[in-house]
Amino acid sequence: MNIVTYPAEILREKAEPIEEINDDICRTADEMLELMYESEGIGLAAPQIGWSKRLIVIDVKDELGDEKVFINPALVNQEGTFLSDEGCLSFPDITGKVMRSETVEVVAFNLKGEKLKIKAGGLLGVVFQHEIDHLNGVLFIDKMTPGSSLANAKKLKEFERIYKRVQAL
Ligand code: CO
Repeated sequence: MNIVTYPAEILREKAEPIEEINDDICRTADEMLELMYESEGIGLAAPQIGWSKRLIVIDVKDELGDEKVFINPALVNQEGTFLSDEGCLSFPDITGKVMRSETVEVVAFNLKGEKLKIKAGGLLGVVFQHEIDHLNGVLFIDKMTPGSSLANAKKLKEFERIYKRVQAL
């Protein structure tokens, strides 16, 4: 399992809902968590491993108890605005400022099939918004402030150039 980097097409696809939680899903979620920890990330969405399903893993220190896997997550309420500093495992070396909601309410299922309703703000709220965006093919570069977009434009072009060259091999 590897992390898919920008501008791979799968990162722009709308991911499919998970219909049934089986052993395969549980195993993949475990592997995603491992990969996230190895990569020193705090969130990872299934499309980032090349799997177009609505599943995300999140571990923001101490915030969610044992819940780290969220299936078919949806934002059901968003309030306020919050300017966050973000990075993304699919964009090595890129960080930027993104306008987010200050607090969100998320509905999702865990691996036991239990329905969760989570109210999250600050960093955790941002991670939920960032990862759920991935499931809709939306990337943090789409929502960056104009200043951050400008600051990263050259690096992004370079990613696109390298990708095209690799595709052409
Ligand atoms: Co990301």
